[in-house]
Amino acid sequence: MADKSQNWILIVTAQTPTNIAVIKYWGKRDETLILPVNDSISVTLDPNHLCTTTTVAVSPSFEKDRMWLNGKEISLSGDRFQSCLREIRSRASDVEDEEKGICIRKQDWDKFHVHIASYNNFPTAAGLASSAAGLACLVFALAKLMNVKEDLGQLSAIARQGSGSACRSLYGGFVKWVMGNDASGSDSIAVQLANETHWDDLVIIIAVVSSRQKETSSTTGMRESVETSPLLHHRAKEVVPKRILQMQEAIQNRDFPSFARLTCTDSNQFHAVCLDTRPPIFYMNDTSHRQVLIINCIEKWNRSEGTPQVAYTFDAGPNAVLIARNRNVATLLLQRLLFYFPPHPDTELNSYVIGDKSILQDAGIEAMKDVEALLPPPEIKDNVPSQKYKGDVSYFICTKPGRGPVVLADESQSLLHPKTGLPK
Ligand code: ADE
Repeated sequence: MADKSQNWILIVTAQTPTNIAVIKYWGKRDETLILPVNDSISVTLDPNHLCTTTTVAVSPSFEKDRMWLNGKEISLSGDRFQSCLREIRSRASDVEDEEKGICIRKQDWDKFHVHIASYNNFPTAAGLASSAAGLACLVFALAKLMNVKEDLGQLSAIARQGSGSACRSLYGGFVKWVMGNDASGSDSIAVQLANETHWDDLVIIIAVVSSRQKETSSTTGMRESVETSPLLHHRAKEVVPKRILQMQEAIQNRDFPSFARLTCTDSNQFHAVCLDTRPPIFYMNDTSHRQVLIINCIEKWNRSEGTPQVAYTFDAGPNAVLIARNRNVATLLLQRLLFYFPPHPDTELNSYVIGDKSILQDAGIEAMKDVEALLPPPEIKDNVPSQKYKGDVSYFICTKPGRGPVVLADESQSLLHPKTGLPK
């Protein structure tokens, strides 16, 4: 047993981004190890706008493993947390800090308990892949605390067992989750295709939609798709392997037209698989008018320009993720979005468009009167009245591709008290 009379405490804080898949992960071939039926590719989002911060601490005085999420204590008993804790502990190395009188031998790590505090800087229920950022951050922070020597690829295989798409949050920029072949899952890891500086023209605008809790969880939905959808198996075997190669090439060459075409087509096929599932999964159910409007708006605009300006992608929820080829296009996109989805009169413009607000300034929008003065997009025919959906979008987040996990060395950024190991 750890000597409880000792009162030292060792603390690490890390910050990890979330990610959005442009070639979707949908379907597991192993539910316990979380092994997918196809490769997927994602863009890591700038952690300045969307991220998880997690502090982990170890002390001989801790009585049991405990976790607080967004300030509330939660249970760590779930299989997914337990897998990550077990896998990291089993890879821990010696940690010594003579000044503090700390010495933990690798074989003793399972005698010590940890405290974990995690905070998402965006609403956890907003459907913005919080578990991806959260589990990636947990694994990354624990690995630093326990002096785990494994590289990011090997850590990604651990994060994957917490939440599949978490493995892609261990890198910045553009990331591929390789499905792997091994039954152990050791080769089902994330690899970085390009870092966040490789294609930094891209601007990402997320329309966050207020919605009821998802009717079908992703885990259940995926299982039902694997069991009943012939399209899922065709997609995994015949479609995605070719699409992955094309997407890698598009990213390498910064070829926006190909990137956009592949992103939109793959999002639409993912939703087709959901409809092909028995019983069908309607992720676009009560919000479909919004998605259809956004898809039509982007498709029409792209066609009128002769080449794609914006890509759209929808996950298993109502939020739209829109990727503009550059800042100029992002400005025009935001004008279109605010034209169709103006804020509710009670909403402050400042809290309606968050993240990189300079795009709002570039769009010449400083006050509600500027939103009201927006004209219909020129590609819309004059004789078609344009319907508006006030209050339909909760808020927009303007962001861009961003970096991978980092350790936050400043004590002020820790979520746990340095003396008690309890949330600050
Ligand atoms: N699920 C959602 N957010 C999370 C977080 N920050 N850590 C662990 N699990 C989560």
